[in-house]
Amino acid sequence: MNAKSPRFLCGLVAALVSAAILRAQPAPAATPVIRVNAAATKPSSPLLYGLMTEEINYSYAGGLYAELIINRSFQDNARNPDYWSLVKDAAAAGSIALDRTEHLNDALPVSLRIDNTSAAPGPAQGGAAGAPRTRLGVANAGYWGIPVKPSTTYRASFFAKADNNFSGPVALSLESNDGATVFARAQVTGVSGGWKKYEAVLTTAANVSPTAAARFVLLTGSPGTVWLSQVSLFPPTWNNRPNGLRPDLMRLLSDLRPTFLRFPGGNYVEGNSPETRFDFKKTIGPVEERPGHMGTWSYRSSDGLGLLEFLTWCEDLKMEPVLAVFAGLTLGGTTISAGPALEPYVQDALDEIEYVTGDVSTKWGAQRAKDGHSAPFKLTYVEIGNEDNARSNYDARFAQFHDAIKAKHPQLQLIATLAVQSRTPDLIDDHQYYNSGQITARQAATRYDTADRKGPKIIFGEYATRGATPPTPDLNNALGDAAFLTGLERNSDHVIMSTYAPLFLNVNPGASSWPTDLIGYDALNSFGSVSYYVQKMFGTHHGDTILATTIENTPTERLTADRGGSAQPADVPSLFASATRDTAKGVIYLKVVNGAGTPQPVSIEFNGVNVAATGEATVLTSANLTDVNSLTEPMKVTPKTEPATGLAGKFTRTFPAHSVTVLELKAN
Ligand code: AHR
Repeated sequence: MNAKSPRFLCGLVAALVSAAILRAQPAPAATPVIRVNAAATKPSSPLLYGLMTEEINYSYAGGLYAELIINRSFQDNARNPDYWSLVKDAAAAGSIALDRTEHLNDALPVSLRIDNTSAAPGPAQGGAAGAPRTRLGVANAGYWGIPVKPSTTYRASFFAKADNNFSGPVALSLESNDGATVFARAQVTGVSGGWKKYEAVLTTAANVSPTAAARFVLLTGSPGTVWLSQVSLFPPTWNNRPNGLRPDLMRLLSDLRPTFLRFPGGNYVEGNSPETRFDFKKTIGPVEERPGHMGTWSYRSSDGLGLLEFLTWCEDLKMEPVLAVFAGLTLGGTTISAGPALEPYVQDALDEIEYVTGDVSTKWGAQRAKDGHSAPFKLTYVEIGNEDNARSNYDARFAQFHDAIKAKHPQLQLIATLAVQSRTPDLIDDHQYYNSGQITARQAATRYDTADRKGPKIIFGEYATRGATPPTPDLNNALGDAAFLTGLERNSDHVIMSTYAPLFLNVNPGASSWPTDLIGYDALNSFGSVSYYVQKMFGTHHGDTILATTIENTPTERLTADRGGSAQPADVPSLFASATRDTAKGVIYLKVVNGAGTPQPVSIEFNGVNVAATGEATVLTSANLTDVNSLTEPMKVTPKTEPATGLAGKFTRTFPAHSVTVLELKAN
């Protein structure tokens, strides 16, 4: 066949066409390579994974603070005893009303007055067996119900006084909302002339079915007038602390192994006005002497969970307190100027620090001892304000707090809420909510890779990837959080603390101030969100040494913004990694996030270390990006741990679509 023959030409054309087709095919993506260099190390901050908390979404009231009575001091509404209702049998007569003329003390300036004007006693009030019932009293609805559980002891207390007509006992009960079923009962006697505290124990039977369709009832046992103040009901608490915290929520927190607690806010520290800031002096001492205050999220706080309770919470979970103090900026627009006007607040901060750390020879240390905790608490970090801005003259306000605190407590590390010029803070608090979902969270994963190490260190005091499926994060959001966290972990020589926010959410309608929260609950049950399990995977697999980790041939994918976020569609990486080594245990934790919707083969290469052939893999994934955990399916998306084989100094592993993996490798 010569070069001019038709067959030759056809063959040539066919060859050229198929070559062109071959060229049009995208080259197969090169396998990504994760390189972990165990010879290039930096110390990893032991405090990297902590908690941030404030009164938001009914986090304490109706949440962590185990008190079951809502509006226990009748101050939620000045005109009406909200959440309290009259219980009255048809044959009984009487009424309830707020009463400001009778009150327990100046902190609690209003009482609930019960006028029992029944003409004849019923059988429960000493009348004849066949007499009609004349029950009269009040019921409290609880925070979306009172949780009734089997074989459970509840401690009730209340302050009361009565007029001379009243002779009966006060009967207490836990009962169904229609009053037909009584789950537990008790009674107190002797309520008379002066204000006094009364206590009783109510215990449910073993065969009671758990329910939150229940109420707490106090009945006055005879005609006459009774005034009530500070009515309280506690179920068992974590470590059996009086005035304590809800055990299931503490268990969820404890399982995260958090290293610090940033409190009491958030916006909650600032208040809407200087009067409604977190004023520690009003949150300590006997609970009936705490006035409570209006919070920043549209409901009152009893301050039953006050400064000492924050500190014992830290003690119980072995967390470092990161104490935020009010620094003059309020959410309502008032800013106290630096100078003499700010001085009382600077003094408050000094007093608060003394309350936390002072020995009993100091004024506020002695107060703490009187409140029940004679040993001082360890305190290293104090944050001056929350989310201040340059327009509010923060620089001068920070300087005033800085100088006063450092003069008295030079060892304290001070956190500024933004960069300041006049003083050098020890740390700066960064916050970022990734409102567009994974796009911005993934972009932020490299945020600190090239950060200047000479300046102040960073506490990342609030972050979350937020998405389209409130109230708690779905797998999509959790992948964004995990990608971002690999960046914090690679840089934890510089970013020494981090915390997701907000922590808690009561999932009942009307409780939420902020969609996308870490832990959800109602009166009876609780669950960790998908992001909670990312936190748990990272916090419980964290070594003391960062190993330099890089990715070559990083795959990318085009993402669009979730929940109408403002970010434009963008090509972003879909593979993320970080590695730390636990020197004492001789293990390396390699975290790999595959954000893509297809399984991702990855070549993993270690330098400077021998890796054993077997280890463990903990993997979080689910069928759909929108999968969430909930009260009904609390464990739908949770990590699974299995043996990992085929490990070596160099190996290939395929990571499932939409997954977070922690590989635990034995290494020497
Ligand atoms: O976490 C919710 C709020 O977000 C915090 O109170 C505030 O600091 C931030 O703006």
